[in-house]
Parts: sequence; structure tokens; C-alpha cells
Amino acid sequence: MQLHVLIVSIVICRTVAEFYKTKPDFVKTCTRSDPSFDDCSREAVQNLFIALGPGIPSIGMRPLDPLMIPKIRILQGDGPVNVNAALDDVTVTGFGETEVLVSQVDSKSYDFYTKVRVPKIRIEGTYDLKGKILVIPLVGRGDCWFEPSNMTIDIVSDVKLYEKEGFVFFNVTAAHVKYNIGGLKLRMNNLFDGIESLEESTNAYLNANWRPVAESLRPILSKTIEDILLGFLQQLFHNLPANFMISDVKYIQSKKTEKKL
Ligand SMILES: *[C@@H]1O[C@H](CO)[C@@H](O)[C@H](O)[C@H]1NC(C)=O
Ligand SMILES: *[C@@H]1O[C@H](CO)[C@@H](O)[C@H](O)[C@H]1NC(C)=O
Repeated sequence: MQLHVLIVSIVICRTVAEFYKTKPDFVKTCTRSDPSFDDCSREAVQNLFIALGPGIPSIGMRPLDPLMIPKIRILQGDGPVNVNAALDDVTVTGFGETEVLVSQVDSKSYDFYTKVRVPKIRIEGTYDLKGKILVIPLVGRGDCWFEPSNMTIDIVSDVKLYEKEGFVFFNVTAAHVKYNIGGLKLRMNNLFDGIESLEESTNAYLNANWRPVAESLRPILSKTIEDILLGFLQQLFHNLPANFMISDVKYIQSKKTEKKL
């Protein structure tokens, strides 16, 4: 029995090491010292987004479009938004059309800076809400959708290098997101338990005032995007050796760990 386990683990280790030697087709390699690195990197990240759309099962990446999220909890205290809400069975479509505008990698820390644009996103799910947005008290539960358009997202990813099975990898430790949107349409069905006149007028009011509505949801949305993004980046880069992406990546362990603040 134990021998069996041993043999199985040896076989798995071999396959893992072999796996790290074979660069998948969706990865484009760039050279950091190359003057045109940023252009190459932008194209490389664009290729990644194209591959991430339908998902990459070989490295355990679930689809990015549609993106399924079981639950988003929204708890926000004082201020213009005072909401206790949950979104369940959320489906997000549109990230498959992500256009990469800028991709830069710090030559020392390897932190990533990425700027993307997503023309149209649709978020659908079931909401359960009790709270206040723009001084309007809102209560209800039912189906809803939100459609932010022309979203541009600035992403700063904190990166540490580490070694595994003789290969260097990127450990994405945090993602910081700033976004802007060009518009927002939304619909919440069954507001106020379906008192129709109130439901229609409130939905109309929220759409007419989409900018402050979007502004009030910003902290929640930023955090949600950061959490989802971080999960994707970690899964991706724990499975792709760093030199697949950056051929001349330099990993000096002692310098990295002794770095003073
Ligand atoms: C999208 O937004 C950017 C800036 O945030 C703007 O420059 C661009 O013109 C917008 N594009 C469309 C199609 O609205
Ligand atoms: C990645 O970084 C986090 C936070 O610094 C750390 O807890 C984790 O152990 C690191 N993972 C690897 C594989 O180095």
C-alpha cells in the first residue's frame, strides 16, 4: 500500500516537473531587457485574456466569461450608502472581450501594472437588499441585472518570486484596482415586494442617477474585483513558470528576502 503511494507520488512529481518544461501555446514569451518589452507584454497579456475566456482546464482555470460567483456579500455602514445586501448565483459576462491597453512589469520588483478596457459587462443574479442608496430607502429581493459600459481598469499586482521544483514562479500577493465606467444601466425586480409604481419609479431614478449610484458602490465593487482578480492571478501564475512569460527573469533569493523597508 505504502509502496503504491510512493510510486504514485514519484509519477506525479515527474509529470509536474515535465509539465513545467512545456510552454502552453497561449503564453507568449517576452524579454525584460528588450526595449520593446511593453509592447510584447501587452500582446502577451492580451493572449492570456483570450485563453482565460473559456477557461484553461489543464491548469485548473475556470472560465472568465461567463464568470460564475456563488455569492457576493455587501455590508456597508455609514455614509451615502448604507446597505446590507447579498447577490446570489451571480453570472458575469463580458470579460472575454477585455482589451489590454497597457502592460508593464517593474524590472526589479516584477510588480505588474496592467490597464484594460471592457466594453460591456452584464452582471445578473438574485439580490436581497435592505438599506439606503442616495437617501432612498430600498428593500426587496428578486432578480436583478447591472450593465456597466466602457469600464477601464488600472491594476497593480504585487509580486514576489519563489522557487518550486527548480523553477521560478510569480507569487501574486495582492491586487490593487482602480476603475472608471462610462455608463451604468440596472434593474432590480420586485423592489418593495413588488409594489409596482414604487418599483418602476425607483428603478428609473437609479438609472437616471447612475453616476452617484456607481460612485456609492465603488468600494464594494473594487474589493470584489480585487478578490476575484487575485484568485485568478494566483491560480494562473502558480502554474506557469516565470520564464515562460519573461525569458530573462532574475531571481536572487537573499536580496529579495533581506529587502529593507
Ligand atoms: C471609454 O472611456 C475612455 C476613458 O475612460 C474614453 O477615452 C473613451 O473614449 C471611452 N470609449 C467609449 C467607446 O465610450
Ligand atoms: C506567497 O505570498 C504569500 C504572502 O506573502 C505567502 O503567505 C505565501 O506563502 C507565498 N506562497 C509561496 C508559494 O511562496
